[in-house]
Amino acid sequence: MWEHRMEPRSEHRLKWAGILGTGISLPGNIFTNHDLEKMVDTSDEWIIKRTGIRERRIIDKDKPLHQLGIEAAEKALLSAGIGSEELDLIIVATDTPDYLTPSMACLVQRGLSARNAAAFDLNAACTGFIYSLAVADNFIRTGYYSYVLIVCCESLSRVVDWKDRSTCVLFGDAAAAVVVGPVDGNLGIISTCLGAEGNLGHNITIPCCYISEEDLEKRSGERKMTLWMDGSEVFKFAVGIMAFATEKIVMDSGLSMDDIKLIIPHQANIRILDGAAKRLGLSENMVYSNIHKYGNISSASIPVALNEAVEDGRVALGDNIVLVGFGGGLTWGAALLRWAK
Ligand code: UT7
Repeated sequence: MWEHRMEPRSEHRLKWAGILGTGISLPGNIFTNHDLEKMVDTSDEWIIKRTGIRERRIIDKDKPLHQLGIEAAEKALLSAGIGSEELDLIIVATDTPDYLTPSMACLVQRGLSARNAAAFDLNAACTGFIYSLAVADNFIRTGYYSYVLIVCCESLSRVVDWKDRSTCVLFGDAAAAVVVGPVDGNLGIISTCLGAEGNLGHNITIPCCYISEEDLEKRSGERKMTLWMDGSEVFKFAVGIMAFATEKIVMDSGLSMDDIKLIIPHQANIRILDGAAKRLGLSENMVYSNIHKYGNISSASIPVALNEAVEDGRVALGDNIVLVGFGGGLTWGAALLRWAK
């Protein structure tokens, strides 16, 4: 289904970029499957069996999402040993911004007093972290910028229809951040690849300033600007693209699967991870999963998992790791990192 196109080779780069620090911020409010049983016709057993999710975090009603992003960013800056005034660019990947303008990135820039940084938001849904990493890598490798902050934050609890059991059990809220900067050659971001299938975009929608008649009809609740998804269609796309993108990024990097220490995929459904691992002939312990704790947190999913994997000692200096994701748009992407910290 997907054609294998070689990406520009890494030897053409002037500089190498890598992740210098990571940080996360999770809402304290834990919402379990049993809490959901009281709201919709569902069960803890169904949710665990069909998705692997046990609980998710929900942001406080009066807390703006960018505040969660700032908390994650402060931790990432500390872990990188970089001052906020050294940042050249802030990218915020999100599906659920507090405002369309000012952008989340400008709100984060203000909160961090990062006065030397340019700032913009990037929407690639759950693939937002991989897209942002590719942008940061290209700015740094050409020498245009030195330090880029990526913040991925989501308040999906604010856009789900809490009466729609087919979606409300899946999503959660969270923020994660990384600082990307120059690293020694042959370390850091080895390759990235990005893709989109706009013709399949109608399968996950969150309207904003406009909604079509067709999308209006799909929503039965009073609130119309809510998330709607055709889960089975997305599921089919997800398993295939996760396997394809993983193989592609390993090949583009001139490596084989045996060289890979860990795969950190977007956490949407444990059955998607198991299906992709099976296609690739990988053992389960090579594929990182924390979906039971947070559900699907869209763009924050991969960087939260990465932060945890690093803290758990699953990633060490020089290890090759694959980040791979898919999401609304539909979008997909992968990155191969040789851990540089
Ligand atoms: O990151 C964004 C991308 N999104 C995704 O990756 C989501 C991908 N899709 C999925 O993860 C799965 O398709 C779902 C978890 C959304 C659904 O799982 P499924 O195994 O595909 O279930 P289904 O939609 O085929 O529904 C099976 C049954 C239906 O009942 P009937 O028609 O067989 O009587 C649903 O009504 O399960 C029912 N159902 C539920 N039952 C209890 C759907 N949601 C629930 C629920 N609790 N929460």
